[in-house]
Amino acid sequence: MLAVAVLAAGKGTRMKSALPKVLQPLAGATLVERVLASASHLQPERRILIVGHQADRVEQHLRHVQGLEFVLQQPQSGTGHAVQQLMDPLKAFDGELLVLNGDVPLLRAETVDQLVSSHRSSGADVTLLTARLEDPTGYGRVFAASDGQVSAIIEHRDCNEEQRLNTLTNAGIYCFNWRSLAAVLPQLSADNDQGELYLTDTVAMLQRAMHMEVDDADEVNGINNRRQLAQCEGLLQQRLKEHWMDEGVTFVDPDSCTLSEACRFGRDVVIEPQTHLRGACRIGDNCHLGPASLLEDAVLGEGVRVMHSVINNAEVGTAVCIGPFAHLRPAAVIGDDCRVGNFVEVKNSMIGNGSKVNHLSYIGDAQLGERVNVGAGTITANYDGVNKHRTVIGDGSKTGANSVLVAPIILGGNVTVAAGSTLTKDVADGSLAIGRAKQMVKQNWAGPKQ
Ligand code: UD1
Ligand code: CA
Repeated sequence: MLAVAVLAAGKGTRMKSALPKVLQPLAGATLVERVLASASHLQPERRILIVGHQADRVEQHLRHVQGLEFVLQQPQSGTGHAVQQLMDPLKAFDGELLVLNGDVPLLRAETVDQLVSSHRSSGADVTLLTARLEDPTGYGRVFAASDGQVSAIIEHRDCNEEQRLNTLTNAGIYCFNWRSLAAVLPQLSADNDQGELYLTDTVAMLQRAMHMEVDDADEVNGINNRRQLAQCEGLLQQRLKEHWMDEGVTFVDPDSCTLSEACRFGRDVVIEPQTHLRGACRIGDNCHLGPASLLEDAVLGEGVRVMHSVINNAEVGTAVCIGPFAHLRPAAVIGDDCRVGNFVEVKNSMIGNGSKVNHLSYIGDAQLGERVNVGAGTITANYDGVNKHRTVIGDGSKTGANSVLVAPIILGGNVTVAAGSTLTKDVADGSLAIGRAKQMVKQNWAGPKQ
């Protein structure tokens, strides 16, 4: 039987933020989401999040996570005090308790696996993860014998100078025998520099404490301040890009691009410099993205070219060319073989296969059929100041340059709109619509040439 508890009640004072530390984002997921994910494959019997500082906000953020129990720690008197809050909820529990600090977001699932199995095979009361750090400043130091047996953990601020030379640090990830831990938890005292109850003090109270050193110390980076947040972001970005390079994605200049964890790519995607993908983007084979583009929750078919453009919550078919300088906003759905060109904004609109909106247009709340050609500067006037209205354009229609289509309006199929028209009435299939003032010419207006 396994229970997992994530410590997420702290304020994160050193972040200097209005946001609780565990809700800080890292490559598109919050710290606490990442920590939960590192243990979710174990399918524990119980999953508990210890909340305290801005508990409502943290709970709200994770309310969709199935089977997650929230336990309140009030006030927040240290990591040992946090785990003491489990005495009641785990009264009848018998098994291992995996404790994860909520601010250690790079931990790999495989490492957590190794920790649990090493704990089970050694029969220790606790097994904790450690790392050898070149600069262990701020971390608790682990004092261990060569056989892996731990005698004590002393926090950085409580160490004397000699103890600080020890570079073996506590990662904040522990697999406890719950019954053994529960027996010593009530004995914790706040006899330390911070006046808090430290979970780390239980190690010296337990009969047998072991440690397991990680191979890659980067994995156990704890985040206490924004410098560490930026370092972890860098490491995560590197991990993500290396993963996708191994899967067949080319990055022309990886350092200038960022991804989020939930993005997925097909083969032979090329990502040019200064291109950023956020949210859950789905990018088909042979897409070519960038330079200088921002995609968020974008779904692209195969062979899409995106240049200097912004795509947010929009869907694009295959062999489409977007940009330069296009903006696809939420609920824009672009069919196959389309072009959305320079300085064009599309919002909540469907654009049928083979249609082109090449220059300087706003298409909002519209439905365009197939092979529609939208002339330069065509605008759907969708908003009357109170309500939004729809524009419908049938297959094969063409709008002239600088047309204004005042919605609600329906243009049939194969309609031609004369340049400079402002249309307010529907137009039947196959018609030419002209809605502009007649040109007048006054001859000799300027008088005879001097
Ligand atoms: C802790 C460890 C330290 C270890 C380091 C690894 C202790 C005493 N020290 O130090 O040995 O090297 O992590 O990153 O455990 N929290 C609560 N309630 C509280 C206090 C904290 O839930 O009352 C949570 C925080 O939200 C955070 C985690 O516990 O997610 C760790 O707390 P933090 O204050 O960051 O501990 P460190 O000083 O980093
Ligand atoms: Ca910490």
